[in-house]
Amino acid sequence: MTQEETFVSFGEQGAQLTYGSYLRLPQLLDSQHLESDPPAHDELLFITIHQVYELWFKQLLHEAGAARDAMMSATGASSDRVWWAQHLLNRVHVIERVLVHQVDVLETMTPQDFLEFRQRLAPASGFQSVQFRELEFLSGAKDASYVERFRGITAQEQQHLDARLAEPSLWDGFVHVLGARGLAAGTDDEIRDSMRTAAHNRSAYAEVWALSEALLQHDELAASWRARHVVMVERMIGAKSGTGGSSGATYLRSRLPMQYYPLLWELRSAL
Ligand code: HEM
Repeated sequence: MTQEETFVSFGEQGAQLTYGSYLRLPQLLDSQHLESDPPAHDELLFITIHQVYELWFKQLLHEAGAARDAMMSATGASSDRVWWAQHLLNRVHVIERVLVHQVDVLETMTPQDFLEFRQRLAPASGFQSVQFRELEFLSGAKDASYVERFRGITAQEQQHLDARLAEPSLWDGFVHVLGARGLAAGTDDEIRDSMRTAAHNRSAYAEVWALSEALLQHDELAASWRARHVVMVERMIGAKSGTGGSSGATYLRSRLPMQYYPLLWELRSAL
């Protein structure tokens, strides 16, 4: 074999697709526009990290939505796809751990460096993240008052939020699985009893137990993100109010006790 024959010119074998065109890199890499003038060094990091979060939120909605669908389609037959829901929820957990750790990167920014461009950001705030709120709704925390508190969202974003409020949540999917596995799930009391049954009889209800643990893990990781975010916020802006107009850390701390699945947490006390 000659040297010429062994040399492969990647991307020149007839295909039109390239790495950059497939990933839409020209658009992606041209989407970081600084508000500060002269440019503040750390603003690129600030924009990049928020964009990365939004990409992961999109992925989480994709995975959690499919997990919900798989649970909602449970029939009780051994061929149903409850295992797929569990598989996807495991992926959700891994991504959520990345989201918690990612705060470390932003925390390399000092409060002084943040102040170089912070005043330019108001009234924009993470509070306006539509996908973040969609994730809360899809998980089961459907607080419609948040939709009314959004300012300046597009008609399409409004539609997404309304749809999330109307569609079944992960919790609805889980309740459906309980029924499909012969466990009563018509009321909260029935769910409490059924969960105690599953917890004490894991060989018969292995799948139900594993799924409930996967949901609890999702809940715990969401709480970890909220806790990590508020500590970072306190380090960055202390007791100042948020660019979104809230009381800042005080508002964020008020959200820490939120639970997606209170019945699963309660179960611990009843075992
Ligand atoms: C310097 C960094 C950051 C600061 C100082 C900060 C500050 C705040 C503050 C004060 C709030 C309360 C709402 C307001 O009045 O603005 C908030 C909410 C929020 N932030 Fe951040 N944030 C930072 C970074 C991030 C990042 C990287 C994300 C990732 C997406 C994020 C996502 C959110 C979300 C989703 C909320 C709404 C939380 C809720 O309603 O429970 N923030 N942030």
